[in-house]
Amino acid sequence: MAATVVVGTQWGDEGKGKVVDYLASRAEAVVRFQGGANAGHTIVNDHGEWRLHLMPSGIFRPGVLCLLGTGTVVDTASLLAEMADLESHGISVAGFRLSDRAQVVLPPFLQVEEREEELRGGGEIGTTGRGIGPAYATKAARFGIQAGDLLDESRLREALDLLFGRYRAWLGLDAAEAKHQGQALLGDLIDAGQRLAPYIVDPAPLVAGWIANDTALLMEGQLGVMRDLDWGIYPFVTSSNPTAGGACSGGGIPPRFIKQVTGVVKAYTTAVGAGPVPTEDVGAVGQALRERGGEYGATTGRPRRCGWLDLVAVRYACLLNGTDGLAITKLDVLDELEELQVCVRYRSPEGEYDLVPQARHFGKLEPVYVRLPGWRRPTRDIRKLEDLPAEARAYLDLICEQTGVPLALVSVGPHRDYTIHV
Ligand code: IMP
Repeated sequence: MAATVVVGTQWGDEGKGKVVDYLASRAEAVVRFQGGANAGHTIVNDHGEWRLHLMPSGIFRPGVLCLLGTGTVVDTASLLAEMADLESHGISVAGFRLSDRAQVVLPPFLQVEEREEELRGGGEIGTTGRGIGPAYATKAARFGIQAGDLLDESRLREALDLLFGRYRAWLGLDAAEAKHQGQALLGDLIDAGQRLAPYIVDPAPLVAGWIANDTALLMEGQLGVMRDLDWGIYPFVTSSNPTAGGACSGGGIPPRFIKQVTGVVKAYTTAVGAGPVPTEDVGAVGQALRERGGEYGATTGRPRRCGWLDLVAVRYACLLNGTDGLAITKLDVLDELEELQVCVRYRSPEGEYDLVPQARHFGKLEPVYVRLPGWRRPTRDIRKLEDLPAEARAYLDLICEQTGVPLALVSVGPHRDYTIHV
């Protein structure tokens, strides 16, 4: 088995869906290793424009097995709706598999998340509201329900009692109401279990088979390093590890089989949700990037916060992920700009930072920019690196120099074909 991990090097929404869809042509299996329906992987291919929330982005490649791994949290209604939508457009989901150890997202998690955000009173994280944080918190507290439990009514009955017992104070329920509300979900969950049964698998034998058959695996991360639970801008983070280490635990892949880590870099910065974004531009530049790049959240529709490329974040991501190739996306969005700026360091009264420091330093950070001339020419129809305008190549060279990582591909438009393979 040789696994390639595709990770985000910024705040998420780097264009990983397109990169995975593109690279999946050479993969025999695609594994999503963390996150849930908070993801919004946008993919444009011959089947049209898709926003996948749970389904691994390899589903459009016939014959590629697509596993939603153990490290994910799954809203079954959302998953079933996504499967039905794909099938109604003639896209087979026969290759889909769901780990029997993945966690199930339940309705009370969404209510708990709302209460938790209220509790922060002005310091909200700006989550996607999909119950992701409470699902991971419940898993760690060992009150969670795994996908395999959906196939066992008596286990499910007991687990619902326990779970609603745990959350009844949060939900404002007495013991009898909590039991009643928990058991009221039983029917829907059993039904979801029956519909998902053909797809629910024990991933351990799958991994054994991949090792035995030297399978080419693509591992798909969600979000980016700045939203990583441990390494991101805590507490404005998601509740799992989108960095490459998460691929091992969440996907069940032994580290020595990871042969390649591709870091996806959007050619500028975007973020949805709250928290520090040092290069955010709330003026004309940010607005131009948002409009030209169509920067609105794929899951929530929220306008994304936009700004110049932040190479401190990307450098930090490359370090923590062991990135050995960069996939630079949305280069074409910069086509019309006269001049570009790139943040290469942060400066604060305490000193300078080449890597992202801990959250307490964030309020004091000033980006240090270098300026580069724009190319002011369309790049969308270019398929070879050497055909790019010299200014665009200089922009790409600066990213590679500053991160010490070579270029693997450049995306110059949303469709699968708008790609320069290096
Ligand atoms: P959660 O993952 O819904 O708990 O949200 C935590 C943080 O991650 C918030 O700032 C969200 O806006 C952000 N986030 C979650 N999923 C995505 C995504 O797919 N793209 C961009 N940001 C996301």
